[in-house]
Amino acid sequence: MRLATARGGIDFTTELAGPAAESEVIFIAVGTPPLPTGEANLCHLESAARSIGAAMDDRMFRVVVNKSTVPVGSGNLVGTLIREGIRDRHPRTGTRIRFAVASNPEFLREGSAIADSLYPDRIVLGAEEERTLQVLRELYQPLVAQSFEAPVFLPRPAALTQVPVVTTTLTSAEMIKYAANAFLAVKIGFANEVANVCERVGAEAPEVMAGIGLDARIGTRFLSPGLGWGGSCFGKDIQSLLHTAREYGYQSRLLEAALEVNRAQRQLVIHKLQEKLQEKLFILKGRTIALLGLAFKPETDDLRDAPSLQIAERLIQMGARVKAYDPIAIEACRENYPALRIQYCASAEDAAQDADALVLVTEWQQFAHLDLGGLAKCMTRAILVDGRNLFDPEAARQAGFDYCGIGRPQRAAWNNGMVVASHAALAWLDGDL
Ligand SMILES: NC(=O)c1ccc[n+]([C@@H]2O[C@H](COP(=O)([O-])OP(=O)(O)OC[C@H]3O[C@@H](n4cnc5c(N)ncnc54)[C@H](O)[C@@H]3O)[C@@H](O)[C@H]2O)c1
Repeated sequence: MRLATARGGIDFTTELAGPAAESEVIFIAVGTPPLPTGEANLCHLESAARSIGAAMDDRMFRVVVNKSTVPVGSGNLVGTLIREGIRDRHPRTGTRIRFAVASNPEFLREGSAIADSLYPDRIVLGAEEERTLQVLRELYQPLVAQSFEAPVFLPRPAALTQVPVVTTTLTSAEMIKYAANAFLAVKIGFANEVANVCERVGAEAPEVMAGIGLDARIGTRFLSPGLGWGGSCFGKDIQSLLHTAREYGYQSRLLEAALEVNRAQRQLVIHKLQEKLQEKLFILKGRTIALLGLAFKPETDDLRDAPSLQIAERLIQMGARVKAYDPIAIEACRENYPALRIQYCASAEDAAQDADALVLVTEWQQFAHLDLGGLAKCMTRAILVDGRNLFDPEAARQAGFDYCGIGRPQRAAWNNGMVVASHAALAWLDGDL
């Protein structure tokens, strides 16, 4: 923020009226967290819209752009609230104040926000009038034509010459955001469901995903089996879409299933730990479990709906001790979840020390380079549950770990006593023979 201010072109303030009165285009990007019913809480949006209305005058035509993810129809609500704000402030002259509402959903990902903003896959603009769309087309022209000077720290992707713009009605733009997130969540859920079947039949899920992902109709991304998605968007947006669908008398069974599959996937770690400990004739109660990663995804300290929280909570409920290391999310966890009795550690090694099992929860790249042999040696029992399939199973086993990933079945099936595998059979399955 300090760097951006020093370079000019942007000012930060907590006072809304001045900037809103001076601007031709006003973006609303306030939070829209879920209510207990699943419905989006629009109180911040409503307050922002009213304040913007109260700040407007008749000097120019303004476009108020909704960038927050909001339920279908919120554009109309914003319009109504702005008009109320105008009426309250200018009861007699308010009708002369001209504005329009647009929807411009945001698709950036936490952890790569700047790259996603400068080099987006597409820009979606929704409005009811051509004049409004034209204002936004002009505003976005440097991004669309990629005519701006790329920052030194973030060069432009070589193949990117033009960003596609999708112009729609207000309602369609609002729906596009929900539909995109719902699709991605379903795709991850699908990969996890298939991985769970793979484990049972002895197929390698990562190989299966590579095999299907190369079909251009499917695509390789978002097909990595793991502990499921978390974060501030997928869960809340699916809940909100389900709520809207119900309001219109429609039950979306596929989206309900996506939520359920994701919930169950987080429990998988607990089952795998129980299974692994049971094989060694131990129970989970009283054991020390070390979590690698707390944030819902790497490169962020965001813990909203993070799988780590539910996993830690469940383990503690079941009588286990939980240690955890995350490169940056420890402070946020300590601050926001003071009741969670986690022993925070200064390093992965510190977390592994004397632990009965290690669970990889967040796929930080630095974890991929850990000295697995060293970690295994300092643990009481070298069990590794790789919740993100980050490690090479064979390398982990050679380092001394009893390894299990997600949808990587060799050990799970054979350790259950169903099949006794020889080293040769393992090598054959791994493609070495
Ligand atoms: N975080 C993401 O990766 C992401 C991606 C795409 C879309 N979105 C959507 O963008 C919106 C914002 O998400 P976020 O993660 O940035 O939320 P956030 O809670 O981190 O930030 C929202 C900001 O709005 C401010 N605010 C609240 N009420 C205000 C008011 N009346 N006037 C002025 N400011 C006000 C808050 O102080 C806060 O700084 C949400 O609708 C979210 O779904 C977020």
